Amino acid sequence: SNLVPCSLSTEEKFLSLQLIEIKARGRFGAVWKALNKNKSEILAVKVFPLKEKQSWLTEQEIYKLPQMNHDNILQFIAAEKHVVDQNVEYWLITAFHELGSLHDFLKLHTLSLEQLSYITYTTAKGVMHLHEEIQPEKLQYYKPVIAHRDLKSNNIILKSDLTACIADFGLAVIFYPFKSYGDIYAQVGTRRYMAPEVLDGAINFTTESFLRIDMYAFGLVLWELVSRCLFNQESVQDYKLPFEEEVGLNPSIEKLKELVVHKKGRPVINNAWKQHPGLSLFCDTIADLWDSDAEARLSACCVAERISSHSRTLSL
Ligand code: ADE
Repeated sequence: SNLVPCSLSTEEKFLSLQLIEIKARGRFGAVWKALNKNKSEILAVKVFPLKEKQSWLTEQEIYKLPQMNHDNILQFIAAEKHVVDQNVEYWLITAFHELGSLHDFLKLHTLSLEQLSYITYTTAKGVMHLHEEIQPEKLQYYKPVIAHRDLKSNNIILKSDLTACIADFGLAVIFYPFKSYGDIYAQVGTRRYMAPEVLDGAINFTTESFLRIDMYAFGLVLWELVSRCLFNQESVQDYKLPFEEEVGLNPSIEKLKELVVHKKGRPVINNAWKQHPGLSLFCDTIADLWDSDAEARLSACCVAERISSHSRTLSL
């Protein structure tokens, strides 16, 4: 009954997609598991309603930038305006990954230290690639700096080997050199993951400040990961969103601002995690990422390097 046949002619040539089931619902619409009947392959289709056309446009613009084919960025396949009986929708077709988002995964599973390290490392590599400006070499084109602006565990997709890839670029911004960005509307993203300077309406409109906002959100994601790490065979706490304990499921901006900006509150890092030799570095990294002082936060590149040398030390 949910099967909606459709034909797309794209660079991929004639996708013939059948929507099978909804795998996720986001702010901008639903993500479907879909079958491409021409190749019998499974793909993901994100369906944007008419009023979300701008996010669909932004998202495909980001995916189509040079060098966005990367192991830690969700693979883009096609974008298509889709009309059925005068009903307009915008479709974004990407690779499909059965495990779904990191959020889905953490709700159901705990992590070994090795899995924690691998997911953190591959997420850091994805964010690092987004944030990086890459000058053209040989046959490549210039890749500008990109800020994600809605980083969270829902927007990180896990491949079957737990390699993380970054998805959901509907709010992302591209920073070209010598352009000014004073007119970007800054208070966007998911409230819970908003950095203190965003909650406070006090951001600088420099490229760096947008990247630091992403890194704060990364800190909260890393806390989610560590909170589900089964490091000593004892019980692990149930999955909770960052600040769920403190402000519940639907906090107002005002409530978050009071907690995160004025009281400098952050999710609790347990003493047991800090005392564990394998986890203490993760705890330090979290604290360095969610620092109130944006300039003190680590870059994605630093996180990747830390985790990689830490993993070697622990021989993971
Ligand atoms: N949820 C959101 N995007 C997804 C994707 N590409 N594959 C599987 N689940 C998803």
